[in-house]
Amino acid sequence: MKDLSGRTALLTGASGGIGAKIAEALADAGANVVLSGRREDALADAAARVTERGAKAAVVPADLSDFDAIDPLVEAAEAALGPVDILVNNAGIELTAPFAEFTRDELTSLIDVNVTSPMLLIKRVLPGMVERGTGSIVNIASAAGHFPPAYAAHYAASKAALVALTKSLRAEYDDSPITFSVVSPGFVAGDGMYQRIVDSGVKSPKMMGTTSTEKVAAAVVRAIRNDSVEIVITGSPARPLVALGALAPKTHERLVDRLGMHSAFGQAARIRGRLR
Ligand SMILES: NC(=O)c1ccc[n+]([C@@H]2O[C@H](COP(=O)([O-])OP(=O)(O)OC[C@H]3O[C@@H](n4cnc5c(N)ncnc54)[C@H](OP(=O)(O)O)[C@@H]3O)[C@@H](O)[C@H]2O)c1
Repeated sequence: MKDLSGRTALLTGASGGIGAKIAEALADAGANVVLSGRREDALADAAARVTERGAKAAVVPADLSDFDAIDPLVEAAEAALGPVDILVNNAGIELTAPFAEFTRDELTSLIDVNVTSPMLLIKRVLPGMVERGTGSIVNIASAAGHFPPAYAAHYAASKAALVALTKSLRAEYDDSPITFSVVSPGFVAGDGMYQRIVDSGVKSPKMMGTTSTEKVAAAVVRAIRNDSVEIVITGSPARPLVALGALAPKTHERLVDRLGMHSAFGQAARIRGRLR
């Protein structure tokens, strides 16, 4: 979708650190934005920054762990700003602990929010996009899907699932005008879940570097415009590192350790009292 002006974007996780910036970037590109999340005050703040940019905004709160909330979310979004042309699945949660110590509920509820709800949202908006002959879907995964850390195994698995989901759908809808992209950020500084981890006392691993909420948001707009397959956006050169994972998995394994992925997530688990 080369031109986003006048398009309706449904953005989940719009109340979060990265989501609020994605909302601004979509508005700067001319799209009108339906902002969803659970915290209504944060959604209202993000919506104000959309309207300041001359775009339309609508706030539709929804808890994505409740699958029954998904159809009403899309219906309310469409009632407010018209058919959804762009879906950005950005809402997500992270948890850190030794794998065997996650409760069954923690394991399933993270997958509900990070994987199942994006799939249900895609399933809900796709038929309309196909009928109208236009649409873009962007999933926000994580570099953790490519550099899987210890102590966040099911978070990494959930993000790798979004990469596979995106690529499968691209193949399936190859002859349609609908585009599917995935944006996989590394450690994001300034705001969002990683910044909160750092604020809690975790030492940011220097070699991995950091990226910013603005760069991730710009990557979302770029992915829509260019029909990108995946944009991995980290503080260190991402492409060779991702390629190394396929070409030399054991070397990659050692590198992921050297980059400080395991120690960062291990520290987070320790600070949260989940790792001795
Ligand atoms: N920050 C990073 O370094 C980083 C790196 C790689 C990937 N990512 C990914 O980027 C995305 C955004 O992360 P962020 O850093 O902006 O995190 P964040 O500040 O914690 O924001 C997470 C967003 O997800 C929403 N959300 C969580 N659970 C939800 C639920 N049950 N129902 C509806 N919405 C829910 C939150 O809404 P409420 O707070 O209103 O409930 C919030 O808007 C996530 O998918 C994350 O995995 C982040």
